[in-house]
This record gives sequence, structure tokens and C-alpha cells, in this order.
Amino acid sequence: MDLLIKNANIVDYSHSFYGDIYIKNGKIQEVGREISKDCKVIDAKGLTLMPSFIDMHAHFREPGFTYKEDIESGSKAAVRGGYTAVNLMANTRPICSTKEILNLVENRAKEVNLIDINQCISVTKNFDGVTLDHLDDFKKEEIVAISDDGKGVSDAKVMMKAMNKAKENNWVVISHAESKEFSDIDMRLAENMMTWRDITLAKVTGCKLHMAHVSTKEAMKYIIEGKCDGVNVTCEVTPHHIVLNNKISNYRVNPPIREEEDVNFLIKAIAHGDVDVIGTDHAPHTKEDKEKGAPGLVGIETAFPICFTKLVKENIITLNKLSKMMSQKPAELLGFNKGKICPGYDGDVVLLDLEKEVIIDSSKFESKGKNTPFDGYKVYGEVVLTVKEGEIVYEG
Ligand code: DOR
Ligand code: ZN
Repeated sequence: MDLLIKNANIVDYSHSFYGDIYIKNGKIQEVGREISKDCKVIDAKGLTLMPSFIDMHAHFREPGFTYKEDIESGSKAAVRGGYTAVNLMANTRPICSTKEILNLVENRAKEVNLIDINQCISVTKNFDGVTLDHLDDFKKEEIVAISDDGKGVSDAKVMMKAMNKAKENNWVVISHAESKEFSDIDMRLAENMMTWRDITLAKVTGCKLHMAHVSTKEAMKYIIEGKCDGVNVTCEVTPHHIVLNNKISNYRVNPPIREEEDVNFLIKAIAHGDVDVIGTDHAPHTKEDKEKGAPGLVGIETAFPICFTKLVKENIITLNKLSKMMSQKPAELLGFNKGKICPGYDGDVVLLDLEKEVIIDSSKFESKGKNTPFDGYKVYGEVVLTVKEGEIVYEG
């Protein structure tokens, strides 16, 4: 579809300017001032236009746990949050270790037709922690990322072999760093040990390693050190790990809400440019499952205003830097032609009212999951419109 958006405050990872953007046949065709075209026109005066967001880390629970979320409800939640692409984790039921499950998810995504979905394949077959043969069933270009997220890969040798396969195929290994032997006694050690191990293995194998939901000061230090050493490592931080600390919240999530000192260190790392991506770890659960102790929270509908309020309003980073972490960098890692306001890129944009105060209200979520610790939080930045390839997919 063709769409002209006029008079917007346009912001991406490297530019900020006032003007218009013309999307033709789904791609950004022209960016400038006083563009005039014979097509649908939106006047965005007073609003900010950014590349729509891309979530490196979400759980849409299909197949197997569709009572918590499914691809349709997850996609609706995504566009309400300003996202038009997500990377889904493999902890479905069955686990996503086969072409059959991959096809099922891809077909559902096509039917729903709201956002682009990349589905991770598990590192080990059915998360058994040992088998890697299933990876040979996939061609190089069929997979972008592999992950056992929800669980760490316990055996270092298995992880090393998986990294070698990933290196051969140019896949990203997404690590949920949690050494199971420490999970019961020390969740901090559990994250730190596996973070160090995986960076050390990535150094040896040369594979692309992405550390999911980094939450401790030590883990972040290992990553910074690894980057300085030339390891091909990127990392992600979640909105909840930079806003909550264990003095103000004991909300159950993996990794857990950490100490104030950790939070301050993560924020400093963001300010220094050491954090590549904001990933939501959108993890929907029912009320009953949460009461039984299921870890996780829904984050895709609240990520932008939370990060904007915490990071940009408090002058820790510019909006350009936030755009880099929420759009350009995840697009680059996942191979999407998105994340920049530039001719030739997908016409995926979001219109935001940055002045608008929003009170988070989980009853309004499109997600089936209402599990959030942020109910009642006052934040800034409302998603007014989400556009995918020139089509309006959400209107607030
Ligand atoms: O809190 C979490 N919930 N952390 C994870 O790693 C998995 C996720 C889930 O799937 O519920
Ligand atoms: Zn995880």
C-alpha cells in the first residue's frame, strides 16, 4: 500500500529531522519535506515517527500453550506496542526442534498477517541438553537463531559443538545463561557462570553469540570484556531489569529482579553503548500459572514507554540510541530489512505521542497474559499508530 505521512518529528538510530515520509509498495520510497502524492495521507503534526520496534525475545506460546498466548494475540499485542517483527523462543509444546513446528508457526504467522515472525530452533533436540542432530535437518538459510531459552544448555561440550554448527551456518546462538546446578542455591552465580562460559566458548568457536536478558553486574562486565577482546558477542537487556530492583519488587521472573547496584550498572552500560538490544522477554502466563510460580511477565505492550521514560526522559541516552536498541540493531542481528528511515527499507514505522502520559493498565492489553508488575505505573510515550509495509496495523 502507498502511504504518505507528513509533518512528523522523524527519529531513527542516526537522524532526527522534521518532515515527511512516503511509503510505496511496502517500502520507504522518499523521505524529505513537502512531499505530495496522490494516496492516503496522514498528518503527523506533533507526533514522532520512528522505525517500528523489533523484539529479539518473545514467547507467543504456539503450539502447546495457546491458553497463555497464541500467534494472533501475540501479534496484536506486538503492534499495540509499536512492534512489527519478533523473534520467538522455542519453548513451545512440542519444543520447536523440527521443520514441522517451524512450518506451523510460519504458516500461522502468515495467516494472521500482522507482523513478521522469526522462529528460533532449539539448540538441543526437545531441550534434552545433549542431542544436536536435528540441526542438520535445516539448511543454512532456514534458520536465523537457535536457543534453548527458558533453560541453559548445561553441558559445555554440547554448547561448544552447537556453536561450531552455528558458526558454519552463520546462525546466532541466543544464550539463556543459567547454570542449573546453581539455580536452587544462587541465581546470581547461575547467570554469571554460564555467561562467562558462553563468552569463552564463543571466543574459541568464533560463532555469533547473543546473551539474552542480562541482569547482573558481573555478567555485563564479562560481556564488555568479551567485546573488547573481539568476541562476536551481543547482548540484550529487558525493560524490567532496568526499572525494578529487589527492594521495590519481588515479581517472579527469570533471571530474577536484581539488586539496585546491578540495575545501576546495566543503565551505565546502556549509556556507554555496551548494550545492543532491548528485548522484552514477553512471557505470558495465566493468573493461575503465576500463582503456581510460573516465571515471567508480559512486556511487548509496555516496553517502549517504560524505556523511553527511564532512559530518554531521564537523559541517560538520546531517542536515537533507544531507536538503535529497539529497531536497527535487532533488525541487523535477525536479518530484517527494517530499522532505518531510509529509502529501500521496509515501510514499517510507528507514530508516537511522546508528551502523552500513560497509566499502564493490563486490562487493556491485547495479550492474553495480564501478568505485569507495572500496572498503575505512570509512563510517557503512547503508540498512536503502527504501520507495517505501508498498512496501518494498529491505531490507538
Ligand atoms: O521469566 C521467564 N519466563 N524467563 C524465561 O527465560 C522463560 C520465560 C517463559 O517462557 O515463561
Ligand atoms: Zn530466558
